[in-house]
Amino acid sequence: MGKLDERVIIVTGGAQGIGRAFAMRFAAEGARVVIADVNGPASEKTAAEIGEAGGEALVAVTDVSDADSADAMARAAIEKWGRIDGLVNNAAYFQRPQVTVGPVEEITPEEWDSVMAVNVRGPFLCCRAVLPYMKERGYGKIVNISSGTFFSGRSTTQYVASKGAVIGMTRTLARETGDFGITVNSIAPGSTASDPERDQSRYEGRVPDRAIKRVERPEDLAGAGVFLMSSDSDFMTGQTMIVDGGAALN
Ligand SMILES: NC(=O)c1ccc[n+]([C@@H]2O[C@H](COP(=O)([O-])OP(=O)(O)OC[C@H]3O[C@@H](n4cnc5c(N)ncnc54)[C@H](O)[C@@H]3O)[C@@H](O)[C@H]2O)c1
Repeated sequence: MGKLDERVIIVTGGAQGIGRAFAMRFAAEGARVVIADVNGPASEKTAAEIGEAGGEALVAVTDVSDADSADAMARAAIEKWGRIDGLVNNAAYFQRPQVTVGPVEEITPEEWDSVMAVNVRGPFLCCRAVLPYMKERGYGKIVNISSGTFFSGRSTTQYVASKGAVIGMTRTLARETGDFGITVNSIAPGSTASDPERDQSRYEGRVPDRAIKRVERPEDLAGAGVFLMSSDSDFMTGQTMIVDGGAALN
């Protein structure tokens, strides 16, 4: 028996990186997973891997910054499985696409708007799309992926501002939805080697800051995701779990 048997969970940005690790692990725990990513071919590849491992996955090519696309994502889950138990708002404008890393004067207003569209408007639209179905059933689990950079301030302004907004959204939505049996929490990952093809040295640079001195991998975040998607977390809401090997130690 898996910890998430029968649950239907949508993972935005589930095709690659951290989202892929959530999708693979949720499926291994018995969940039926919707991979809601803008990258169709990468989503199909991850769904095929889940299928080969004996799990169930549906691809819903989704642009989280688009309201119609977010609504279609929720409808696809309902049409296939008749329910939505969980949503992980993981898709982000961060590495794919890559944000400008530099002083605020180098960030264009256009990039600021694009980052906010994916990282803030995206979770808003996806929550808006799934909440009516969750409220109808009187149960739901939402997890918003923030970032440890919100606590450290060690990143670029447009990105960190968007990840702070995610924590704000988590707190208000938790209060709004508690009476409906819905929990809303955040996970703040540390700097994570989410693409093995990229230069590992930038991740190795983070190692000395940590209590646990090794590179953080996407799989390191999956256990927190399983907990927040399972009944074990039914009395925990509005919180942010920092999973960074003991870098922030808040
Ligand atoms: N990797 C890190 O160091 C790190 C650290 C802290 C927080 N995070 C957060 O974790 C999450 C995942 O990060 P990652 O490193 O795995 O990212 P990634 O760039 O490897 O993957 C992001 C995924 O989101 C998808 N995506 C991008 N825009 C989208 C859109 N508009 N609609 C739907 N899908 C879209 C991409 O196609 C990709 O599959 C993000 O929210 C990121 O901010 C990452």
